[in-house]
Amino acid sequence: MNLLFVASECAPFIKTGGLADVIGAVPKALTDAGVSVKVLIPAYPALADLAATGQVVMSFDALFGGPANIIAVQSNGLDILLLQADHLYDRPGSIYLGPDGQDWADNDLRFAALSYAGAQVALNGLGDWKPDVINAHDWQAGLVPAYLKQSGGETPPVVMTIHNIAFQGLFDATRLSTLSLDAELYTPQGIEYFGKISFLKAGLALSDKITTVSPTYAIELLTPEFGMGLDGLLRERQSDLCGILNGIDLDIWSPEKDQALVSTYSGRALKGKAKNRSEVEKRFGLKADSGPLFCVISRLTSQKGLDMLLDCLPDLIAQGGRLAVLGSGDPDLERAFVEASNRYKGSVGTIIGYSEPLSHLLQGGADAILIPSRFEPCGLTQLYGLRYGTIPVVARTGGLADTVIDANEAALLAECATGIQFTPVTATMLGQAIARTCALFAKPKVWASMMRRAMRHPVGWDLSADAYLEVYRSSLEG
Ligand code: ADP
Ligand code: GLC
Repeated sequence: MNLLFVASECAPFIKTGGLADVIGAVPKALTDAGVSVKVLIPAYPALADLAATGQVVMSFDALFGGPANIIAVQSNGLDILLLQADHLYDRPGSIYLGPDGQDWADNDLRFAALSYAGAQVALNGLGDWKPDVINAHDWQAGLVPAYLKQSGGETPPVVMTIHNIAFQGLFDATRLSTLSLDAELYTPQGIEYFGKISFLKAGLALSDKITTVSPTYAIELLTPEFGMGLDGLLRERQSDLCGILNGIDLDIWSPEKDQALVSTYSGRALKGKAKNRSEVEKRFGLKADSGPLFCVISRLTSQKGLDMLLDCLPDLIAQGGRLAVLGSGDPDLERAFVEASNRYKGSVGTIIGYSEPLSHLLQGGADAILIPSRFEPCGLTQLYGLRYGTIPVVARTGGLADTVIDANEAALLAECATGIQFTPVTATMLGQAIARTCALFAKPKVWASMMRRAMRHPVGWDLSADAYLEVYRSSLEG
């Protein structure tokens, strides 16, 4: 089977969140299963050196305002197709936001171009390689089935994957012709959404199959609370929707060989974790102490529920806990965590920013990772936490509910607990979860066996890669 992925980011080349991790990892697992996968992403400036080593395999004289090329390159075990269109992607800073912190004003053109290029690869192939199925990811690739549909003729099936329904790609209806979209598609059954063009809705309405990144989120999406206005459409398409849990790339995330750690370790030899812990204390300005060291590695947005953690800090500290925060995002939250580190010097340490190596060190050195998300399609940091024996303390929602086994009395007796879950998602219940974590941490034997169990919990891609294959096959059956 030949498969084309279309997405806006891909680790390790360009990453702002979990989407990149997934796009960088699934193709490897599918390749192991015998699929030929190519991944189409924009050639942002950070990828210029990589692009220079590749070959032009398709050209466009004019792609939404300028010339463009698709450049094929192999790197990190991936077959990458880079969409080089300098008028759209060659600009400094964030891949989504301008210097003013707002979306780039031409984001519709930028990601329509990505979808259009994906559709052209689907229709014409590249040499003797032609995709049998297209997997489009999130709103940035949502227009792939729209451009395929308006091409007429036979087209390969499209599987649309929702990583986060909060981002829908809504644009003014006046942009229809600028985006080369046929007016016939602008209906409630197509790409129209309350008087606007919705890229994600286009993907959901016009694709053959829909997946999302955990079974629980697949169910939550059908409700008004989580479906964010698209729940009605998803209920209509329920028989085509399935939730497939994310995995992690064990080549990149394994404490036995992680180069970002000061000391590697394993479930059998946990000693090295203590050295990473001391390094985290140093880097985050925390006092050395024997109480539980919590960490946060996150985008600081309301989705992640970290405002609730601010309310819990006095109790966390009173119970002997400390907290290391690595994150960036909402300026108010950034400020609040920096202020908390000043107020609780030695007990709370904050580093504002994005650092891949530091995120690995934190997973290696902390005792527990806090993820109080209001919603979480899957979440990857709890999976990294499991793998690194850094006990996840999570809200019971989406993929967090599907991946962590709560240390309740029954699970402790059955010796299957791997973390702490709490619901409803409120500051009070988060506070209780932190208290339960501190109490468990005070029982070294119980804690150590939970760590070892967490580290053994299967978090790779094998099972989920099979599930994706199943969806691709069923999309071919129509
Ligand atoms: P989301 O995609 O919603 O942000 P995930 O848990 O799926 O949430 O993925 C987040 C990814 O981004 C993880 O790989 C995590 O380690 C990484 N990450 C988040 N914030 C930072 C940061 N400040 N520095 C480094 N990595 C980060
Ligand atoms: C999104 C979600 C996150 C998920 C990631 C990868 O960013 O917020 O929960 O893990 O996509 O699928």
